[in-house]
Amino acid sequence: MNKEYRVAVVGATGMVGQTFIQVLQDRNFPISKITFFASKRSAGSTVFFRGLDYVVEELTESSFDQCFDFALFSAGGETSLKFAPIAANKGVVVIDNSSAWRMKDNIKLVVPEVNSHVLKKGDLIIANPNCSTIQSVVPLQVIHELFTVKRVIYSTYQAVSGSGYKGVMDLKNGYEHKAPEFYKKQIFDNCFPHIDDFLDSGYTKEEKKMMDETKKIMGLPNLLVSATCVRIPVTVGHSVSMNVECEKPIDLIQLSKAFDANSNIVFYEGTHYPTPLDVAGNDLVHVGRLRKDLSTENGIHLWAVADNIRKGAATNAIQIAEYLIKENLV
Ligand code: A2P
Repeated sequence: MNKEYRVAVVGATGMVGQTFIQVLQDRNFPISKITFFASKRSAGSTVFFRGLDYVVEELTESSFDQCFDFALFSAGGETSLKFAPIAANKGVVVIDNSSAWRMKDNIKLVVPEVNSHVLKKGDLIIANPNCSTIQSVVPLQVIHELFTVKRVIYSTYQAVSGSGYKGVMDLKNGYEHKAPEFYKKQIFDNCFPHIDDFLDSGYTKEEKKMMDETKKIMGLPNLLVSATCVRIPVTVGHSVSMNVECEKPIDLIQLSKAFDANSNIVFYEGTHYPTPLDVAGNDLVHVGRLRKDLSTENGIHLWAVADNIRKGAATNAIQIAEYLIKENLV
């Protein structure tokens, strides 16, 4: 009989937490026991999983005294910094969706299609990357393997669900002409180049995450990366316009065939292209608008769209767990 695993979902009442629940069901993840945690605020509420109601428990320092194999965390950076080590000390494999651990030297930052090979038995805290970064490095790795990527410039168009329920409510309330409660500016009928806090460099933290995380995931510390991240009034689905410069001359036909043959990518040829509405609820990265950048040698443009809560968060984390199981690393 195939082995089944004991799973904790931390942040179960949040947007990504709810999607963990959906994706675990959709992908038929092998589970013998599952427990849902949130803060005191939601303790006692119920979540529905595989036909049963489960009572949400308050996350405390003794939560991991119950035995678990995996803990899927999406409860913010502070919660991860405090509770991931407590879980790891009990031998639980934590896959953490916050940015708290991503850039720490001894922590693996993983997009399975790109760098699952870095995972080893005994990795107890594994970081799930930033949403826009995940969907960008999947096609970027294909380009890199063929033509050696030298420089990439990202411009993102990010959905409000990236901010959780608070972002979605600001957009919905905007339809009724109510003032925003979460964002500093109105998102309804608007967009703004401001995601997360501003840094002294003039970049935002979101942009810095994309720049740093791309290099770490691809194992290319000297890659030239820049980003502008923009919030747009879309509920689900981030889009990224990618301008990529390579060392080698680019054969567009060869690259199109590589995208087409890649089971993690849905490739749109010619004048077809993906939009956020096309990808909602889907686990793949959708790529279109592939063309030469006529302003430089060995440059291309492409457009990558994915469900930011699934492939950009919950699905990627669960794919990491699936890889560990498949390779007998847990
Ligand atoms: P709660 O419902 O109790 O606030 P989102 O990213 O969509 O805002 O969701 C955040 C998730 O993290 C929610 O499930 C939230 O639970 C949970 N959370 C926030 N703070 C804590 C905490 N200190 N301990 C456990 N869970 C937390």
